[in-house]
Amino acid sequence: MPDTQITRPLFDQLMVPNYAPLPMIPVRGEGSRVWDQQDNEYLDLTGGIAVNALGHAHPELVKVLTEQAQKLWHVSNIYTNEPALQLAQKLVDHTFAEKVFFANSGAEANEAALKLARRYAQDNYSKDKTEIIAFNQGFHGRTFFTVTAGGQKSYSDGFGPKPADITHLEYNDLAALEAAISDKTCAVILEPLQGEGGVLPICNQFAIAVRALCNKHNAIMIFDEVQTGMGRTGHLFAYMGLDIVPDIVTSAKALGAGFPIAAMLTTTKLASCLTVGTHGTTFGGNPLACAVAGKAFDLINTPEMLAAVKQKEILFRELLTHINDQFSVFKEVRGAGLLLGAVLNEKYQGRAKDFLLASAEQGLLVLVAGADVIRFAPALNISDNEIKAAMLKFKVAVRQVVESA
Ligand SMILES: Cc1ncc(COP(=O)(O)O)c(C=O)c1O
Repeated sequence: MPDTQITRPLFDQLMVPNYAPLPMIPVRGEGSRVWDQQDNEYLDLTGGIAVNALGHAHPELVKVLTEQAQKLWHVSNIYTNEPALQLAQKLVDHTFAEKVFFANSGAEANEAALKLARRYAQDNYSKDKTEIIAFNQGFHGRTFFTVTAGGQKSYSDGFGPKPADITHLEYNDLAALEAAISDKTCAVILEPLQGEGGVLPICNQFAIAVRALCNKHNAIMIFDEVQTGMGRTGHLFAYMGLDIVPDIVTSAKALGAGFPIAAMLTTTKLASCLTVGTHGTTFGGNPLACAVAGKAFDLINTPEMLAAVKQKEILFRELLTHINDQFSVFKEVRGAGLLLGAVLNEKYQGRAKDFLLASAEQGLLVLVAGADVIRFAPALNISDNEIKAAMLKFKVAVRQVVESA
């Protein structure tokens, strides 16, 4: 058989058409740089959608991955393993959590959280305590339960009957929450900063009110930190920058810094309802993923790394403001740490993708969050010089879009 030519059209031939990848195919990365098949170089401000917190091919992660690969990849949950327990210990030592459940993706961590909430309410209160409150524009993954909890009907419609008893409210709308929550509510699930929904931060007063209302109605407060966790906002977890402690925090994306792993963090009291056999996953907590995540945790959870994220946010905002002073394209720049969104003004509504494509032409990879927001989620260890170089490219891209208007 002749060697298959690996090109972008092959994607359309072979792959289920649920994605529409860009024309170039990345083949290698180093830090915040990526190269495609033709050896074109790109500066990467996407971080694999807030995943590659330490950039591409970080030498210490490569080392721990290859060392673990020589030893033990997978044993199943019939056994525990050393890297899983080491990682769980770190998560427990450095967060509110007392218990950890490992999974493979953000959706699975949230699925576990939602199932736990339902189970806990059934076991401890009543069979009717099943309502889950979630928020418009929220995103929690693509399993049927999590996508239904997510706040975009277009993602959950068209698959037949949905998991029941999920109420959607306006994010940051305290009056709506006060009116909706009741003793039938078993959980409130929300992101501390809506990433996919447009890089929209929570208001601290709202977070405090959610906490108080959950306490009042014996509902579990689930913070989905899949995108915001592991240093992204300049805190190890974003809840640490707010005046609340949730009952469950979910983590994925940057937890493995590019290797798939997720975690649900909770208390001993809540965890007690997931007894043997109530929930599980084949690959969750496998030694390979946990070894990488353990090293990533050590590298991210330092005062220097977290402080640098906040410094880099300032630099980003300054440079984006300069660009906006010149071209008047953004209404605001919002977000926290290295999860930032440049929100397009009226004139450029719906055109975020044009900015993404123009950036790619300049050798710069950026993200969008909906049609009106250009999103940046680079590696946390991106250098100041790389940020400056990226913003020079971005400026050219912005000029191109403005001049084509
Ligand atoms: C806040 C949030 N929750 C959950 C998910 C789903 O994670 P995964 O794609 O790993 O299932 C995402 C992914 O973008 C996310 O941003």
